[in-house]
Amino acid sequence: MSTTPSAEPSAGGEQRPRVVLDCDPGHDDAIAIVVAARHTELVGITTVAGNAPLDRTTRNALIVRDLAAPGVPVVSGAARPIVAEPVHAAYVHGESGMDGADLPEPSGPVDGDDAVGFIIDACREHEGTWLVPTGPLTNVALALRAAPDLAHRIAGISLMGGGTFGNRTAAAEFNIWCDPEAAAVVFEYGGPLIMCGLHVTHGFLATPDRIRRVRDVPGRLPAVLADLLDFFSDTYVRLHHDLAGAPVHDPCAVMAITHPHLFESYDAHVVVETHGVHTRGETVIDRRTSRGRPAPTCRVLDRIDADAGFAVVEEAIAHAARAG
Ligand code: BDR
Ligand code: CA
Repeated sequence: MSTTPSAEPSAGGEQRPRVVLDCDPGHDDAIAIVVAARHTELVGITTVAGNAPLDRTTRNALIVRDLAAPGVPVVSGAARPIVAEPVHAAYVHGESGMDGADLPEPSGPVDGDDAVGFIIDACREHEGTWLVPTGPLTNVALALRAAPDLAHRIAGISLMGGGTFGNRTAAAEFNIWCDPEAAAVVFEYGGPLIMCGLHVTHGFLATPDRIRRVRDVPGRLPAVLADLLDFFSDTYVRLHHDLAGAPVHDPCAVMAITHPHLFESYDAHVVVETHGVHTRGETVIDRRTSRGRPAPTCRVLDRIDADAGFAVVEEAIAHAARAG
């Protein structure tokens, strides 16, 4: 299995992977959009219900697009999981999905409401596109099911989800737990797959110092993002006894392909538990060393260099603020 990022040279000669970002903004999804806008050829932002209902995640995506990725199309997608009942995360992100900042109105409506069709077209138009899902995997799974040829057309899938422990339950991380049947399709799709799970992102915290550095950057976008990170971190610190800030989960899935040197990783066979009474939505990582174990299906990120990762985030925010 290869997870070497496929990349297109940018005008400046920099290597930028072509990406469709599928997200449910979401405070940390907003940061993922900013980093993707800076370091990828971002061909589209597709939205899915997750942290909040679809109309809210889509509205949030439009707002962040306007501030950080002008011109990139936003296309809405699945309003509910494939099988499970929809459940959202107002207890983490607020009722809007991005509480905590005074947000501008979106500049206009969405560019389409068929995220699945958009993903299929984008991957067929140009082989070697990366899919970067940072929400429940509904849109991506539906695209892989409707167009099985995508499995050999895309460069790979780099997702935020799963890990060696859960947050929504003891075993399951929120994005996987929301739509485990969709996640199972993605983990079994057969092409390059990178999993950025909670055991990585809980080492990538929006500490007070890091938020202060974002706030010190001049411009509207840094002020909005600092307010969002303050809300997000206050929530995490209140809900946990051992976190000094919110894990900024989602940009890690982008940086896994744009800055792979920031991560330690290993390859393993990974499946999604869809039936367990206590373990539905768990990503089961086969870490056995026995000769008969199944072949690896996934690059499992294990650790991030958090200071270097935050430097990437801060620079991306400053870059977008200067351009805006
Ligand atoms: C994931 O769930 C959401 O709350 C975040 O946006 C992130 O994608 C973390 O479990
Ligand atoms: Ca998310």
